[in-house]
Amino acid sequence: MAQTNISNNGKLSVMEAIQSRRTIFKFKPDPVPKNILEDILYAGIWAPNHHLTEPWRFTVLGETVKLTLAERYSEIQIEKVTSNPEAAKATTEETLAEIGERGFQKFMSKPTIVAVSCIKEGNEQRQLEDYASVCCSMQNIQLAGWEQGIGMQWSTGAITMENGTYNLLDINPKNEYIIGFYYIGYPEEIPTPKRKPLNHVLRWVD
Ligand SMILES: Cc1cc2nc3c(=O)[nH]c(=O)nc-3n(C[C@H](O)[C@H](O)[C@H](O)COP(=O)(O)O)c2cc1C
Repeated sequence: MAQTNISNNGKLSVMEAIQSRRTIFKFKPDPVPKNILEDILYAGIWAPNHHLTEPWRFTVLGETVKLTLAERYSEIQIEKVTSNPEAAKATTEETLAEIGERGFQKFMSKPTIVAVSCIKEGNEQRQLEDYASVCCSMQNIQLAGWEQGIGMQWSTGAITMENGTYNLLDINPKNEYIIGFYYIGYPEEIPTPKRKPLNHVLRWVD
């Protein structure tokens, strides 16, 4: 992990932003101010979108919901151990409590959390295309954030899929589904990038 300050006053070219953006796991504690968060999410509504269905929805989590989800996140970490009989047998109550506490602190360390969801409407093709559009929207959001020195982690962990989360966020799973949570904030650490060279994935056909 490289410790880097990516504050760049909006001077990145598109290619520089694309290449230098990294998924961020460790954040400084400061939340992203509301006006800056709105500027970043605004980039999301300009994603390409077949038939202009505008299927993206953004739900910003408030402190009460965040606390409730942090408690549930902590339980999930414990359940990961207890659901495996061998691991459960080998783990003391004290260790389980530590795992739970670490989970709680980990979730609470994400300064700003946005659930990104997609409206579920129409036939299979429409749903695929709408999913693709929301993913494009999410990349716009990451790049707009990165330009302002703000990093994110796209998460599809269990907490993003549970009925309890849908209830808390007031999202009706019959007509909308959560694609992921964005954990957002000012990076404490920037991971080093990993990609194969382009020629590993590029074909030209005559
Ligand atoms: C659809 C999708 C789901 C992801 N879910 C997770 C996740 O649940 N947990 C996680 O740590 N990272 C998740 N990521 C982030 C990837 O792990 C990350 O993009 C990858 O490691 C490449 O790193 P980079 O974004 O810094 O290039 C997800 C990314 C995408 C596109």
